[in-house]
Amino acid sequence: MEDIEKFLFKFKGYYFNRLPLDIGFIENLDNFEIRENDVFIITYPKSGTIWFQQLLSLIYSEDHRKGAGKLETMDQVPFLEYNFRKVDFGERPSPRLFSTHLPYYLVPSGLKNKKAKVGNGIIYVYRNPKDVMCSYFHFAKNVVLQFTGTFEEFMKQFLEGRVMGSLWFDHIKGWYEHRSLFNIQFMTYEEMKKDLRGSVSKICKFLGKGLSEEDMDAVVRQATFENMKDDPLANYDNIIAIGYGPNVKGHFLRRGTIGDWKNHLTVEQNERFDKIFQREMKDFPLEFIWDMNED
Ligand code: A3P
Repeated sequence: MEDIEKFLFKFKGYYFNRLPLDIGFIENLDNFEIRENDVFIITYPKSGTIWFQQLLSLIYSEDHRKGAGKLETMDQVPFLEYNFRKVDFGERPSPRLFSTHLPYYLVPSGLKNKKAKVGNGIIYVYRNPKDVMCSYFHFAKNVVLQFTGTFEEFMKQFLEGRVMGSLWFDHIKGWYEHRSLFNIQFMTYEEMKKDLRGSVSKICKFLGKGLSEEDMDAVVRQATFENMKDDPLANYDNIIAIGYGPNVKGHFLRRGTIGDWKNHLTVEQNERFDKIFQREMKDFPLEFIWDMNED
């Protein structure tokens, strides 16, 4: 089995993806200048990041809504820590939209102690961790080709936090426990899946963006799984081809559903996962949705 860790870079206790990383930038992240109207999507990997990139881009860009935009969502809502295009973020016009997988303690200090103002903010998107783990397994195996082992072997690495993004439990708990430092809205992948329109309204309300009914229709239409899968500006297939070669078989938009973990975990693996989840998430108040039919 190839060791996934050789693709990782550990900095201040957190695992980054080594390949696209500018280590000098990461070392100075704390001082990265934050503007009052910057917007951040924060996710643990495989929680629907590209979905939210598409949504924010559609909400903020009329060109994108009208199908006239030429920019990939990666360029509309770039990753802060993985600057694939080597963009000078200081030159980007406001409001700047960013994505990041960073833990709460590594984000620029300018994001902290921010008074809530309409127009800025952080949306933390989380997903039930069994689906995250399954999505991540396929991603590591078929997209970034960093992993050649079995599902069981991946599960161990995931539960030990030896993956890009480190330990899922630490990520969500860290952000939640320090939420009072930030202007932050928590949202779930599953609520998006069950009620996309209602979720878009929630995002707009938090960010103080008013959209007409017609614009809202355009956002919702272009953010469905089926439409994103066929949209070369949103599906990341180009980025996979550039980053990992044209022969990669996997896609970011894979199943796009709730409860795919039932097709992966054995009864024993599921029980083991549940035990760890109960131990780690005891007293954690946010709810998780594990099944498409659950409310
Ligand atoms: P699956 O692998 O379970 O299909 P990230 O962008 O954080 O890497 O997350 C990728 C996951 O989000 C993938 O999950 C992908 O299919 C899902 N996803 C992306 N866009 C989606 C959409 N419009 N609707 C539902 N799921 C979506």
